Amino acid sequence: MTNTNQTPRLEVRDLEVKYGNITALHGISFTVAEGEIVTLIGANGAGKTTTLHSITRLPPPEAPKVSAGDILINGKSILKTPAHDVVRNLHCALAPEGRHIFGNLTVTENLTLATFSRPKTDDCNKDYDHVFELFPRLAERRNQRSESLSGGEQQMLSVGRALMSGCTFLMLDEPSMGLAPLLMYDMFRALKKLNQDGMTILLIEQNAKLALDFAHRGYLLETGEIILSGNASELLKNPEIHKAYLG
Ligand SMILES: Nc1ncnc2c1ncn2[C@@H]1O[C@H](COP(=O)(O)OP(=O)(O)OP(=O)(O)O)[C@@H](O)[C@H]1O
Ligand SMILES: [Mg+2]
Repeated sequence: MTNTNQTPRLEVRDLEVKYGNITALHGISFTVAEGEIVTLIGANGAGKTTTLHSITRLPPPEAPKVSAGDILINGKSILKTPAHDVVRNLHCALAPEGRHIFGNLTVTENLTLATFSRPKTDDCNKDYDHVFELFPRLAERRNQRSESLSGGEQQMLSVGRALMSGCTFLMLDEPSMGLAPLLMYDMFRALKKLNQDGMTILLIEQNAKLALDFAHRGYLLETGEIILSGNASELLKNPEIHKAYLG
């Protein structure tokens, strides 16, 4: 799957990130190739969300500050690129931790909001169809206020909204969080389908087994450092990962 001769879709290079005086990431490096599914696994507070927020250029006041290293998309540094351009011009979108959907808007309205950054010439109609095909539960509830969706359905909406931005690189922050097994299965089946159709995916997860079963490659993050990396199938067999994360 990985073509090492190609410029990676994402390259994080010796990235050091701080919140005030606290260093959250201590010089981490990883890559995601075009068409790949890569997972970053780690326990609470390891720095997973911080990594995603650094890539998506989350604006202040919550923004982590990059104090060393670089983040490259398609071989170009994005450290000076504003968040909206990462979405609009580089086609990278985030389905964030905690979903952050607008509860007083309907499912369709939430999806529509994500299309505002797209060029006027884009035909978004097929993208609504695509989202509703991937997540039939959302199709049935398209006119329902989002606050009345179940947690799992809100998670689907969060992913659907990211897709409506027209992204070709999808970042997901713990999409399995709070999902019952059946909904989790639906979610990961949909993500697999997206990848088979060409979507590049960076998946952040605490659920190591789920993530490594799904991804091509993985990295283990521990207190702001990457301590292990490799093919997902190899990591699944790694005794350290077994002991700490797979019980
Ligand atoms: N806005 C912030 N201000 C100060 N410190 C922060 C901020 N956000 C995160 N941190 C700290 O940075 C470290 C990494 O946090 P981060 O949210 O990236 O972890 P995580 O791996 O996503 O954890 P979880 O699995 O619980 O979501 C933690 O020690 C956290 O307390
Ligand atoms: Mg997090």
